[in-house]
Amino acid sequence: MELTLTRPDDWHLHLRDGAALASVVPHTTRRFARAIVMPNLKPPVLTTAQALSYRQRILAVVPPGSDFSPLMTLYLTDDTPAEEIIRARQSGHVHAVKFYPAGATTHSDAGVTDITRTYAALEAMEDCGLPLLVHAEATDPGVDVFDREAAFIERFLQPLCARFPALKLVLEHVTTREGIEFVRAAPGTVAATITAHHLLLNRNAMFAGGIRPHAYCLPVLKRETHRLALIEAATGGSRKFFLGTDSAPHARELKETACGCAGIYTAHAALELYAQVFEEARALDRLEGFAGRFGADFYGLPYNTATITLEKHDWQVPEHYPLGNSSVIPLFAGETLPWRIRD
Ligand code: NCD
Ligand code: ZN
Repeated sequence: MELTLTRPDDWHLHLRDGAALASVVPHTTRRFARAIVMPNLKPPVLTTAQALSYRQRILAVVPPGSDFSPLMTLYLTDDTPAEEIIRARQSGHVHAVKFYPAGATTHSDAGVTDITRTYAALEAMEDCGLPLLVHAEATDPGVDVFDREAAFIERFLQPLCARFPALKLVLEHVTTREGIEFVRAAPGTVAATITAHHLLLNRNAMFAGGIRPHAYCLPVLKRETHRLALIEAATGGSRKFFLGTDSAPHARELKETACGCAGIYTAHAALELYAQVFEEARALDRLEGFAGRFGADFYGLPYNTATITLEKHDWQVPEHYPLGNSSVIPLFAGETLPWRIRD
């Protein structure tokens, strides 16, 4: 069986920098025409000038012959000035601004501590149509880790949408039924990305026979009922839900340790994993919209004209891939996957 699709885009991706960047970029460019590149570097991408220079470093390691185009983002802080938003928009290369609540996830310590301090920037974004990408997790230590998304929606996202009704907003890597319901009920300016790992795994995967650091990411995997809600949203044909892998490589030794980093690496098989989900849901005919249309519509970008062909053919995921001078353990390392990209 074969499936030819418009070349897809990844609307949420971590590419890192330096030697790690060069290691992971080819996995993405083999599958995707464009990707929204997350700004949580160390130090973070705070300005348009930094985003443009990061873009050049990415382009420098794109394999020859690829037409891959990185779509850059800024990292929102308490102090992001409205002028920076306007510069970002005018650059033509910055396509969104990422909101990390301070302390919510990997490299988020420079994130927002007081949402009211971002209002000038959000107003500018609302005016110039630059989307806000939200890591929607409450950081209040009193909130159970599995309830952080629902708590953030209630405490921050609902009020934010009421205050900035024209702001384009993406609930990134939505993981819960509550998140899906929030996006469905919100106006057309609100959308969500969905990862392959949250569609394929529930939280049991973190404890299968022992603790599994390579199944740990943020937002953390949830109960089966939430996974089912995500599948329904992704495969249901709604234009509010589109593909964002949140592929997040970390060196093996930083995950297999007493306090392991959050992040699951899926770029090596991203489209193939989504094909598996859509096939299981008997919705392969809806994969093209989710992977190659709805995101472009939301961001106001043209559809890609090239295509990609998937074929039903077993292949075995390598045990590891190089990551700079270390290695990264990919999702489903050593296991067999049913879909592959045809050369
Ligand atoms: C991401 C990372 O490693 O940069 N980790 C993750 O678990 N998803 C950060 C993020 O997107 O939260
Ligand atoms: Zn992410």
